[in-house]
Amino acid sequence: MEFSVKNGSIEKQRTACLVVGVFEPRRLSSSAEQLDIISEGYISALLRRGDIEGKVGQTLLLHHVPNISADRILLVGCGKERELNDRQYKQIIQQTVKVLNDTGSMEAVCYLTGLHIKGRNTYWNVRFAVEAAQETLYSFNDFKSIKPEIRRELRKIVFNVPSRRELPLAESAIQHAVAISAGIKATKDLANTPPNICTPRHLADKAIELAQTYDAIQSHVVDEQQMAKLGMKSYLAVSQGARNEAFMSIIEFKNNPDPQAKPIVLVGKGLTFDSGGISIKPAAGMDEMKYDMCGAAAVYGVMKAVAELNLPLNIISVLAGCENMPGGNAYRPGDILTTMSGLTVEVLNTDAEGRLVLCDALTYVERFEPETVIDIATLTGACVVALGSVNSGFFSSVNTLANELQNAADLSTDKAWRLPMNEEYNELLKSNFADLANVGGRWGGAVTAACFLANFTKKYNWAHLDIAGTAWQQGANKGATGRPVSLLVQFLLNRANVKFE
Ligand code: BES
Ligand code: MN
Ligand code: ZN
Repeated sequence: MEFSVKNGSIEKQRTACLVVGVFEPRRLSSSAEQLDIISEGYISALLRRGDIEGKVGQTLLLHHVPNISADRILLVGCGKERELNDRQYKQIIQQTVKVLNDTGSMEAVCYLTGLHIKGRNTYWNVRFAVEAAQETLYSFNDFKSIKPEIRRELRKIVFNVPSRRELPLAESAIQHAVAISAGIKATKDLANTPPNICTPRHLADKAIELAQTYDAIQSHVVDEQQMAKLGMKSYLAVSQGARNEAFMSIIEFKNNPDPQAKPIVLVGKGLTFDSGGISIKPAAGMDEMKYDMCGAAAVYGVMKAVAELNLPLNIISVLAGCENMPGGNAYRPGDILTTMSGLTVEVLNTDAEGRLVLCDALTYVERFEPETVIDIATLTGACVVALGSVNSGFFSSVNTLANELQNAADLSTDKAWRLPMNEEYNELLKSNFADLANVGGRWGGAVTAACFLANFTKKYNWAHLDIAGTAWQQGANKGATGRPVSLLVQFLLNRANVKFE
């Protein structure tokens, strides 16, 4: 799909379809009004007749509109003009793209980017339009032997911006959105890949492939033997019941003009399947535990996006690939593990494996002398209970970093909410036999998981994102969401001082 921006008067557009908004109740947007004047009241007559009310998501496709050179006009309901927000705007764009795709228009010129959204400007209108359009058109058919047939697919959308002055900003919005969307697609494709194919080895292959694609990226893979040498006994314990070996993949993006600049490090939980191990999970919905590598998939997508954007930063990502399986060689409840940091952990539940893999990965990254470390993990069911599928949970004891993440979440609309990490919670992680227990009991599970990780991140600025509720959708539309790629790329765009107005 191709996107571009222009600033042109509506009556001159020769295109397969012109897209303009209608507000509730039955009010023309300024571009619809211009078309109404040229067509001598054709559109306002339709509104009077009640063909479209203007509610969000309503559409009406018109052919042969008098005096108009475009083949079609698509009227799109935009709700009450003064109430238009981010969410409604995205719904409007998604509905538009669906209809365009179904009607056989291969290209369109869209005037919806001229709408006024509370707290946003043309940059965001264009950026969200491109991101929402790509989101709508995503499907994953790699494993279907009968592919859905595509009939006269939508190929190009031109977004009109209200003034020439805004064109450069709108162009950078397209460039950013295209890169972010490519990252999101890479994340979704990897996450949706089944766990018999998407093994830790597969994650490593994808990391190497990325390095082959982009000059600024290098990658290398740490295997189980090397992990053993490094003393990563906690990570290895999780893997020991599995036939598919663990691999930790390191992806380095070096593009800061200051070669001495300390890197930003992203660590993604990459459990390519989490059966729970000996503390095995119930059968219902267990297939969804193929998504327990969505943290790794997200950092993979972020690396693709930053490489596309050529951000002047040094970023290192870790895909902590591992499989959690029961079996004769599996680790057990009661086992005591010595982590790479030296701290010992008593395993009380083998299903709390993410933190056991991450704690060693988080110790490993000390060698990079990071400026900041952010880990991203589908870590706890408790986070899903707390926040549902709307917000990712995040934690940091560094307030400035927490504020940066909140800001990036708000700007990107990839929502996140900070949860607390007071030291009182550490009481819950006490063990009679080791330095720490790997679970903290029934209550506050997302918090105790974060507190567990905090024991291993004392040497740098650290934040933790729990994406258990946001990384994939359940039900009829089951599939990876690509979150929080948008949030993280926004965080990095901000770190690179990119301007949006
Ligand atoms: N991968 C799961 C967390 C998870 C559960 C994500 C459901 C998304 C949906 C994690 O490894 C896990 O099993 N966590 C346990 C921890 C518990 C044993 C302390 C959980 O949340 O139940
Ligand atoms: Mn688990
Ligand atoms: Zn897990």
